[in-house]
Amino acid sequence: MKNAKSILILGLSLLMAITTIAQPAKGGKKISSDLFGLFFEDINYSADGGLYAELVQNRSFEYNPTEQKDWNPFSYWEYISPGFSYGRVSVETSAPIHPNNTHYLVLDVEHVGNEVKFVGNSGVGLKNSGFDGMVVKSNDRYDFSMFVSQLSKEPISFSISLQNPKGEVLAECKINASSNDWTKYTASLIPTQSCDTASLVILATTEGKFTIDVVSLFPEKTFKKRPNGLRADLAQMLADMKPRFIRFPGGCLVHGDGLGNMYRWKNTIGPVQERKEQRNIWGYHQTAGLGYFEYFQFCEDIGAKPLPVLPAAVSCQNSGGTWRVGGTGQKAVPMNEMQDYIQEVLDLIEWANGPATSFWGAKRVAAGHPAPFNLQYVGIGNEDKITPEFEERFAMISKAVKEKHPEITIVGTAGPFHSGEDFDKGWKIAKDLNIPVVDEHYYTDPNWFINNQYRYDKYDRTKGEVYLGEYASWGNKLRNAIAEAAYMTALERNGDVVRMASYAPLLAKKNFTQWKIDMIFFDNTVICPTPNYYVQKMFSANHGDYYFDKVIAKDEKDINLAASCVQDSTTGDIILKLVNYNETAKPMKVNLGRFGKIVAEAEQTVLSGSPDAENTFANTKNIAPTSSIVKISKSFDYSAPAMSLTVIRLKTKN
Ligand code: AHR
Repeated sequence: MKNAKSILILGLSLLMAITTIAQPAKGGKKISSDLFGLFFEDINYSADGGLYAELVQNRSFEYNPTEQKDWNPFSYWEYISPGFSYGRVSVETSAPIHPNNTHYLVLDVEHVGNEVKFVGNSGVGLKNSGFDGMVVKSNDRYDFSMFVSQLSKEPISFSISLQNPKGEVLAECKINASSNDWTKYTASLIPTQSCDTASLVILATTEGKFTIDVVSLFPEKTFKKRPNGLRADLAQMLADMKPRFIRFPGGCLVHGDGLGNMYRWKNTIGPVQERKEQRNIWGYHQTAGLGYFEYFQFCEDIGAKPLPVLPAAVSCQNSGGTWRVGGTGQKAVPMNEMQDYIQEVLDLIEWANGPATSFWGAKRVAAGHPAPFNLQYVGIGNEDKITPEFEERFAMISKAVKEKHPEITIVGTAGPFHSGEDFDKGWKIAKDLNIPVVDEHYYTDPNWFINNQYRYDKYDRTKGEVYLGEYASWGNKLRNAIAEAAYMTALERNGDVVRMASYAPLLAKKNFTQWKIDMIFFDNTVICPTPNYYVQKMFSANHGDYYFDKVIAKDEKDINLAASCVQDSTTGDIILKLVNYNETAKPMKVNLGRFGKIVAEAEQTVLSGSPDAENTFANTKNIAPTSSIVKISKSFDYSAPAMSLTVIRLKTKN
């Protein structure tokens, strides 16, 4: 009884605390609390070779010439036979580990050399240098695994090692394979030295014949140490942005290059050896190792809502390279397959949110996530050409989702441009079908962003809300980022109709980019955030859910000046964003009179510099924000530096 009473008191005080926290200042406009998030697409080697921490390239021998003309299942592997050994290697498909994973290697070790003068292990095997070399750190643990099935009578002994380019062994372990069925063997490798260009060497040191597939090497230190996880430093850069949501897996990757290339979520869950790898629309390979489970898990790990985007049962209008020629490249799922396709969409919701007793919910539980993922948003379609085929299918899918899952917010699509035929048709469909959120995309020059800051002020508030799912000004110079910052203050001002926004694309690997302007560049060791990254981070890490006008006064005739003021009702903090796109400093005046208590010391972060400055791999910190603690009074003057974004975060409680 006593316990029940204290629980009640605790509950009441928690409730009171929440109520106190959730009390914003008077006169604010409620805006979306999901405004700033991330757009993740597997473009520019963002997934395999990027965010996905797998170090082995072509681990399942599934590369093929439809991806790149000179690729084949043995690409990125080297046959080795040290110590005057010899053997044979072939790629086969007759007894795969799983029907989804068709190719595997057969190695026949005919002779293991025994030349006494040879130093090191003799044998026959394979070498993989990953994505331009594997980065390994001394004393860190690396988790190796491979599937082997023995074809000859005797068990096979393996030496598994990490080697530097000189062939010096950094770490080694032994494995004995002794099963005639596909069996997973695992081992740990702990290098004695760090190396940025290491290779994985798998050497059979006894004679015999065997098959091998899904050869994998992961750092133990993935982001949050998740198995089959993400590259920790890159994932941390994203986590630091505190995004409210992550949209995935694209982009055009979603609707694919032809129907057979559409992204089908069911192919990307379950044990990695059972996932269906495929050609990436951007001209490389996707293992689907970073699949739906991993996307959802990452969202949860960084407190972002998942926003999966599913194809609207049509392929990209540019399929086969027919770039906007009347949309002839768009292929549609045949009508007699649509019920299955719709079921696939519904199944995703069951997989994400359903109980363990449901068929798909049980699969999520089996993958190690008993609790629901709390999926709230589902995108249908990605900037598709709005043809009658699209329209019919979109209507069927959205109707089924609404009927079975009224709790889900559907995100529709309105073409690849900020205006035009697809844009108008996409919005009309949304209006006719009562679609609550519509995905707009536009990539254009910085002046467009400056000149169109009032775009959403004029939007009809009775239609659906906007998800600005892809946008960027053409460049990664500071001026581009500041133009985007000015526009983002307008997104906040219109946060009652703009529900979400995400800059695109997010990641790009040096020398492997298909899209020139991106938010974060990286190679195997260096991360190069752009000024655009810092602008996005300064907004998303300082989001609010109430907007206040007339707090910041500036020259209203100067279109190069922009500002916004929001309050985050969970912390009570008031956040000012002041943008100056001019090449000289400009005065602004802040009046906080409408707010109650303001703590005198505030955190001020400024991003500014030369308009053409950018970050490079040689100088990744050329443009970066600086933070300081400043004294604030209820009313003060601020001189906004030339080409700058300033964020001032004020506390309303000590
Ligand atoms: O963000 C890069 C591409 O731009 C996306 O894949 C596509 O949706 C858009 O055209």
